[in-house]
Parts: sequence; structure tokens; C-alpha cells
Amino acid sequence: PRQFFVGGNFKMNPCSVAEKKALTQLLNQAHLDSSVEVVVSPPSLYLIPLKEILRKEIQLAAQNCYFKDSGAFTGEISPAQLKDAGIPYVILGHSERRTLFHETSEIVAQKTKAALAASLSVILCIGETLEQRETGKTTKVVSEQLQAAVAVLKEADWSKIVIAYEPVWAIGTGKVATSQQAQDTHADIRAFLSSAVSPAVAEATRIIYGGSVNKGNCKELSVQPDVDGFLVGGASLKPEFVDIINSTQ
Ligand code: 13P
Repeated sequence: PRQFFVGGNFKMNPCSVAEKKALTQLLNQAHLDSSVEVVVSPPSLYLIPLKEILRKEIQLAAQNCYFKDSGAFTGEISPAQLKDAGIPYVILGHSERRTLFHETSEIVAQKTKAALAASLSVILCIGETLEQRETGKTTKVVSEQLQAAVAVLKEADWSKIVIAYEPVWAIGTGKVATSQQAQDTHADIRAFLSSAVSPAVAEATRIIYGGSVNKGNCKELSVQPDVDGFLVGGASLKPEFVDIINSTQ
């Protein structure tokens, strides 16, 4: 059985000390299903302070990293630096990074390889645009995005990779994938892993869904056999994040 995984991607939020405090208090005081792996991903500036004040069951993830360990790369943070700071996870290949910051699947693959080499765990994001879905290209697109990583991850420890399926049209739009759409695509991703890596890796790898997850739709999604958790954006900044964490209870 795959351990249910819920990540909160805070993106470029929160923006005030008061908001950060309220969020931390909420998470520290809530009842959280202890069988769920919970990871939150604040802006890099807040990784260390939040690690120090959040309850220890909640792990931290960076929202990005570079693929070199050190050097003249102004503005970047390295996997080695995250590791040294005690940050266990990094989100890579989020659609906002692919679209706004022009990260190709090859760059995302290099970053994934470097992060794993530094002993970080990776939340690897993939997903199709609305046009790609409407023209029947979803499986092809997510397979190609994953193939770029598979190609450079020959001997990788796949237990350190969580795949986040985030359809671009569902991110921040309030337009969640139906549980059937999510299940179908997750099953296709698992089938791809089975043939491109191995059946054992496909069976063990968590595939989580992201895109307009909220407390109203999380239960139905969570019971799908190939949905192993969520990557939550907007709702991770609100009290309902707790309901999403506890969605399988
Ligand atoms: P929303 O939950 O705000 O749609 O964002 C999803 C996301 O991008 C998580 O990484």
C-alpha cells in the first residue's frame, strides 16, 4: 500500500508575518491523520524559519532548485544547500515554472537528477494544457514529460520521487478534474512507469493530483485507486487544508 501524501504548495505566499503565524498555528494545533505524509512548501525564504516552528511531523519542500551544487548562478539555490539546511523535499517542474520561467522537461530532468544525487526527495510535476486534453494528447504529453526524467534517472531510487499530476487547466482555476479524469490519467501514468521503469516501481510510486483541490472535492478524488494524495495550492493557505489532509479518514 502506498502512503497517502498531501503537499501544500504555498507558491509566492504568504506575504506577511501575521499570515505566516496564523497558518503555522493552524497546522500546529489541528488534528492531522498520522498515517498521511504531510509536506508544505513555502517560498525558500521561509523554509528554515517554518521548519523551526512547525510540528515535526510536517516536512518542508522547496519550490525549486538548480541542477548545480554551487557556483556563479545568481538567484539560484542548490540541492546541496537544501540538504544542508535540513530540507528533505523539492518540488520540480511545476507548470508555473515550465510556463513562466521556460523550464523544459530536459531542464526539469536535470534538476531531478541533481536533487536525487543530493539525497533530496522530489515532487515531480507533470500535466497537460486544456488544448492538449481537448485534442486527446494528455497521455502522450504526460508520458513525454516523464520520459525526459526516466532517460536520465537510470539507477535512481524511485522511492524518493512523488509524481504530481497537475492538469494546467485545473491549476488556480476552480475547475477541478473529475475523479474519473484524474483516475484515468493516473492509471495511464502508472502504466507508463511500469513499461518505462518497472512494474515494481509503478506499483510503489505515489501519484498525487493537483489542481483546484478543496475540502469539497478531495474525498471523491481520494478514493480513486490510483490517486495517492494531493498537491494543494490555494486551499493549502486556508483552514480547509486540514480537511484535505484528513480526506481519507
Ligand atoms: P491550486 O490548488 O490553487 O489550483 O494550485 C494547484 C497547484 O499548482 C499546486 O502545485
